[in-house]
Amino acid sequence: MTLRVAVLISGRGSNLERILVEAERGVLAGVCEVAVVVSSRAEAGGIAVAAQHGVPAVVVASAGRSTEAYGRDLLEALEAWHVDYVVLAGFLRIVSREMVARYRGRIVNIHPADTALYQGAHGYAWAYAAGLRETAVTVHLVDEGLDTGPVLAKRSVPLAGAATLGEVVARGLRVEHELYSETLARLFVGEMKVREGSA
Ligand code: GRF
Repeated sequence: MTLRVAVLISGRGSNLERILVEAERGVLAGVCEVAVVVSSRAEAGGIAVAAQHGVPAVVVASAGRSTEAYGRDLLEALEAWHVDYVVLAGFLRIVSREMVARYRGRIVNIHPADTALYQGAHGYAWAYAAGLRETAVTVHLVDEGLDTGPVLAKRSVPLAGAATLGEVVARGLRVEHELYSETLARLFVGEMKVREGSA
């Protein structure tokens, strides 16, 4: 048995790509299957990434929709795919309260900072502007707040000598890519054990 996952994106899709590779032949193989990729933007680079891996991608455009209205659009789109978990990977919309309630404890996000220190988008720009010698990335469950959900894993990103924002982002993404799949694997294997135990 493998868990069915939806990955939600808005852009480039480098985290998505790593998750797909890990599901094919890495730490997520035999653990989860990416059933569908949902993008909030038709122009997202991650849509091509999904196609390269033979995974269906659906656009549920978020422009002009309120958080709650968009949440209903997403719920409707996700319904057909019967997913166990929703994995956010560069998804630039706030998740609606209804969606959090529907998938309580089953929505995971990766955040480009320590969620205790910085919330919202642009975590790397914040670290760069502040001249930090070290920042962090966080994998957390999503609750109703902005980056306030329980932390599953956090890993440091050394920034000493990073001269440009581009270098900060590159260093951060290297850590994100490793940490996200590792953490998802741990979470999903735990879930499968619980299910087997209760079967
Ligand atoms: C990552 O830095 C992630 O932490 C943040 O958005 C970015 C997405 O990058 N939430 P990508 O689309 O996975 O390349």
